[in-house]
This record gives sequence, C-alpha cells and structure tokens, in this order.
Amino acid sequence: MNIVILAAGMGKRMQSCLPKVLHKVAQKPMLHHVVDTAFALNPTKLVVVVGHGAEQVKQSFNNSNICWAIQDKQLGTGHALMQALPFLDIKVPTLVLYGDVPLIQEGTLKNLIQNAGENLGLLTAFYDNPKGYGRIIRQHGRIVAIVEEKDTDEDEKKINEINTGIMVLPTSKLEVWLAGLKNTNSQGEYYLTDIIDSSVKDAIDVISTHPECGNWESFGVNSKVQLVEVERYLQCHQAKKLLEQGVTLIDHERIDIRGTLTVEQDVLIDVGCIFEGNVHLAQGVHLKPYCIIKDSTIGENTVIESFSHLDSVKIAKNASIGPYARLRPQTELGNNVKVGNFVELKNTKIADNSKVNHLSYIGDANIGKEVNIGAGVITCNYDGVNKHITTIEDNVFIGSDCQLIAPVTIEKGATIGAGTTLTQNAPTEQLTLSRIKQTTISSWRKPVKK
Ligand code: UD1
Ligand code: CA
Repeated sequence: MNIVILAAGMGKRMQSCLPKVLHKVAQKPMLHHVVDTAFALNPTKLVVVVGHGAEQVKQSFNNSNICWAIQDKQLGTGHALMQALPFLDIKVPTLVLYGDVPLIQEGTLKNLIQNAGENLGLLTAFYDNPKGYGRIIRQHGRIVAIVEEKDTDEDEKKINEINTGIMVLPTSKLEVWLAGLKNTNSQGEYYLTDIIDSSVKDAIDVISTHPECGNWESFGVNSKVQLVEVERYLQCHQAKKLLEQGVTLIDHERIDIRGTLTVEQDVLIDVGCIFEGNVHLAQGVHLKPYCIIKDSTIGENTVIESFSHLDSVKIAKNASIGPYARLRPQTELGNNVKVGNFVELKNTKIADNSKVNHLSYIGDANIGKEVNIGAGVITCNYDGVNKHITTIEDNVFIGSDCQLIAPVTIEKGATIGAGTTLTQNAPTEQLTLSRIKQTTISSWRKPVKK
C-alpha cells in the first residue's frame, strides 16, 4: 500500500508563522503523529506532500524513508494528491491521510483498508456539530458525493455524516480521476472529495468505515482552539489505556503523557504528573502530585513525593525521592536510597541504603552503600573550567554543611565533621574535620540605638 499525507497547507487560522502541521500535540508535531501511524502500517511508499514551509517541515524529520512531494501553490487537496502521483506504486492501493488530523489510530485505518478491498474506502463519522466539514451525500444508502461546507445548501448543512478526509483509493484510477477535477467551486480549489463522482461513474463502490475508538480520532486541527481540544482527547485516551492496564489514577483528566509511559502492576499516579520521552514505572511505584518525569526508569515500590523533577535517571527498588527533589541526567540510585527535599543530583551514582536527605547539591559523584550525607552538603565539582569527581565509599558519614572540593575521596567508614571544607582525601574509619576554633568574646556588648 502507498500512503500519502497531505501537509502543504499554510493553516492561516492558526495565526502563527509555524507551518500548521508542525504545531504540537503531546509535545510532538501533528505531522509526526501521522507519519508514525503511517509507518506502523508498513507502507510500500510513504509520500508527504509539503508546500507551505516545506523546508522547515522536511527538516523536522530525519528519515530517508519519506518521499517528499512539493506542492508549490496550494490549489486544493485534489491538486495536492496529484503532486504525489509520480511516486506511487500503481499496483497497490493508496491511503490518503491529513497532516492536520493527528490522532487517527492504526486500528481504524486497518479497518478502512480491509473494508475497501478493491473499492474506494472512505472514513466518515457522525458529528453532533458537523460545521466546517464536508458532508456525505447518500442515495438509497450509497455514497454518491461529498459537499464542502462552503458549497452546501440549507438541507445539506443538516447532514451530520461528515468526510474525515481520510480515504483509500485504487491507484490505477488516480491519474484519470485527478485529471478530471475542476475548480469551479466557492473556493476555486481542486477538491479531492470530487473524485467520488468519478468513482460512481466508473461503478467503483464507495465503502464507508467509521473511527474505531471515537470521533476524536478524525478531528481536524485548523485553529488553536481545535489544537487544545485534540490534546485533551489524546490525553484522555492515553489515561484510559493506563486504567485498563490497572494503574490507579486519582484523576484521569489530570495527567499528561508527552511520549511513552509503560507501567507494571499496582502503580499509583496522583494528579498533575507529566511524563516526557520514555518512562517506565515498575510494580507498586507511587507518584505523589505534580511530578515531572522524563526518560527515566523507576524501580519497584519506589515513592516519588510531590513536586519532584526527574530527567534521565534510573532508580532501583524501594527508593524514596522528594518532595522537591531534582534528579538530573546520569543519576543512578540503588535499592532503598533516600533523596530528600531540595536535593539536586547530577551524574551521580548512589548505592543501596544511602541517604541524602536535605538541601544538598551532589554532582559528578560516586557514593557507596550505607552512606549518610547530612543537610546542606555540596560537592564543589566545577573549578570554572573542568568538572571533577567526588568519591564517597561505603559507610561514610558526612555531617551537615560540608563542602567537598573535588577531586576528592572519602574512604570507607570515614566521618566528616559538620561544617568541613574538605580539600584532601579523608582516611578510612577516622574523623576528619576542618573548623576554626570556637571563641566567645566576653567583653562584647550589644550596640545600643542612638
Ligand atoms: C478537508 C476536506 C473536507 C473534510 C476535512 C476533514 C477537501 C476539499 N475537503 O477540508 O471534506 O471534511 O478536510 O478535516 O478535501 N492541503 C494540501 N494542499 C492544499 C490544500 C490542503 O496539502 O492545496 C492539506 C492541508 O495541509 C491539510 C489537509 O490537506 O493537512 C486538509 O486541508 P484543509 O484546507 O485543512 O481542508 P479542510 O477545509 O479542513
Ligand atoms: Ca482541515
């Protein structure tokens, strides 16, 4: 099967200089959603018709399996498909998708293709408010025409079966059919929808299929209002899929998945959590409200407290993170690790049973097992030019408010006294501290107000 995606339009109603099909749904450009769905169907050829902002649209992909057809002037959807003709394999049918209909689902397209067989397959839907869409005209139940909103009369306006725009066509007929299109309509465009007429004349049936998951699959985006509507439909659909997998969501309307979230059993997600990239939550993970998690793997029974921000981290079992923790890339935490409030970790490995509970910055560090890092400890990892490593071995205890000037190593079982500025390695099993002697000035008097 060939797949053609029409994406040349400029999208005036978006009120933006960004080409319409690059506006994002769930942080991914609309056209990328459609292309991903298209590739999932294993097409022999995938042609994307671009025109407005063509270079920008092309550059947003890095995929040599896409054929790009250029439509210099946007003379209508029929004219757009004509530009794709030279690329098509004549022996297999052609599926036409729209760059501004981003939520169309693989299952629906498979049904459409299967139902159509050698005929013309048309995806239609029944909308409560069909305004703006082409209407399906049937005679004795059979589809005989599509009338664009702007060309409808009063009776046709009442028809609530609409053209989603998505269709599968016998490729061998296309050259003749498309050449026969005329632009004598209210918009002066070559409408792809007019090929229904040729199909009827050639005695090729028009077979309708409807969206499988819901009408939202076929919603087109012409404005920012429609963009945000489509975003909510997608989020709601994703949330329902999670519920079906057994996840507990405190509110299925307050979760945002902007990427791929995979889960094991008995995961609980409280309100306002945002997932980006690829995130995996293992069995029994509990996310408290308002966490942002990107490209991370969270191990069994780990609890992430509110307002924590995790980016590219790996966490093992039974860890406890946050509230207000910031875990930056290349952080790896072992079992039972505790990272408390206002702690920032970057490029840091922490082994089993260790704790960094309060107000610390730990960067470029390797931390062993059973380590306790007190409040306000800072690894001074950057000298203004280079980054340096801090090594903290097993069973170390670091008192509060220490600065560890990297590169530096704290050997097994060492204790660092509170307030230490550590500039040299600390030996094993001993107390190391740097502290000026405490004094009390007995002659001192409180100043009095003059
Ligand atoms: C189109 C259909 C309408 C259907 C609706 C569904 C036609 C004539 N009308 O209307 O029946 O109900 O979609 O969403 O087909 N495009 C090009 N080149 C062009 C014009 C458009 O590539 O010259 C692309 C656009 O980028 C867009 C898609 O085709 O991705 C649809 O174009 P748009 O102008 O939005 O058509 P609608 O008025 O929505
Ligand atoms: Ca449209």
